[in-house]
Amino acid sequence: MIDRKYPNTRFRRLRRNSKLINLVSENTLNCDDLIQPIFIKEKFNGSESIETMPEIKRFSIDSSLKEIEDIIKSGVNTVAIFPVIDPDNKDDQGSEAIKSDNFISSTIRKIKEEFPDIILIADVALDPYTTHGHDGIIKNDYVDNDATIEVLVKQSLVLANAGADIIAPSDMMDGRIKSIRSALEKAEFKDTILLSYAAKYNSKFYGPFRDAVDSASNLGKSSKETYQMNINNRNEAMHEVAMDISEGADIVMVKPAIPYLDVIQSIKQKFMIPTFAYQVSGEYSMIKLAVNNGWLDKDVMLESLISIKRSGADAILTYAAKEISKEILKR
Ligand code: PBG
Repeated sequence: MIDRKYPNTRFRRLRRNSKLINLVSENTLNCDDLIQPIFIKEKFNGSESIETMPEIKRFSIDSSLKEIEDIIKSGVNTVAIFPVIDPDNKDDQGSEAIKSDNFISSTIRKIKEEFPDIILIADVALDPYTTHGHDGIIKNDYVDNDATIEVLVKQSLVLANAGADIIAPSDMMDGRIKSIRSALEKAEFKDTILLSYAAKYNSKFYGPFRDAVDSASNLGKSSKETYQMNINNRNEAMHEVAMDISEGADIVMVKPAIPYLDVIQSIKQKFMIPTFAYQVSGEYSMIKLAVNNGWLDKDVMLESLISIKRSGADAILTYAAKEISKEILKR
């Protein structure tokens, strides 16, 4: 490093006013860096709030279309949809997930019909569909890797066939990217993008999401520690990412975001491929609650997203996408 000495150097020269500050800014958060997750509920009309996620709602298909129109107006081009499945359609195999005319596939069709240009991300995992709330198939009290992959492949084909642009396996089974990629190629879905939740930690920050999709009660006290990553590890995340890239992932994701900025930075620096971060439900709710109580300024949300961008993330899934995008456009 150069030896910077006062008064040759006065750092405050470049902080004299906001125009100068912006001129030398190293990072900027743009509307198209933001992805809005949306909860869409089966057998339901209108919308309802989610107690543990301030200002976030569950929508019916019809009301989700209005919401998406609003999201697009806010400057956000990408949405990630999560189904809230009727309890009657859940079983221990998650069999609803692989029916070609299921709720999520008709939702995807309607959204793409109405908004052909929106980039639509659909999650691959069985937890919205299983009575036990796990992401896969259970055999002998254990989520069975290879039996689960067979189902995830079928689920992925249903989603691709319905018109999802990006398929996002969030289940953390080993080898699922390879199987899904090869099935997509065989079925001529050559341009379907695979966004792998490559470094998904066994985090307590997912709590509000599990309320939102109503899987918390199904899961009970059971943990996802046998498939999601140990929160103590970083090297392991690099190997997870390496494997997913070699198996055919186009984009990799780290989740949660703020508690794992070191992981985002290491992945981006080492692999130099599109790297996304998911600011998860618990991260969102913590900030929102403090802001809504007047304990923190509302700009902490933007600050948290900028820190994720600065760590190296190319795009961010955040429940605040629409709100922050509106603010960015106003500036
Ligand atoms: C399901 C899934 C989860 C999230 C996204 N997809 C929850 C989990 O793994 O239990 C969490 C997102 C959030 O907390 O916002 N496979």
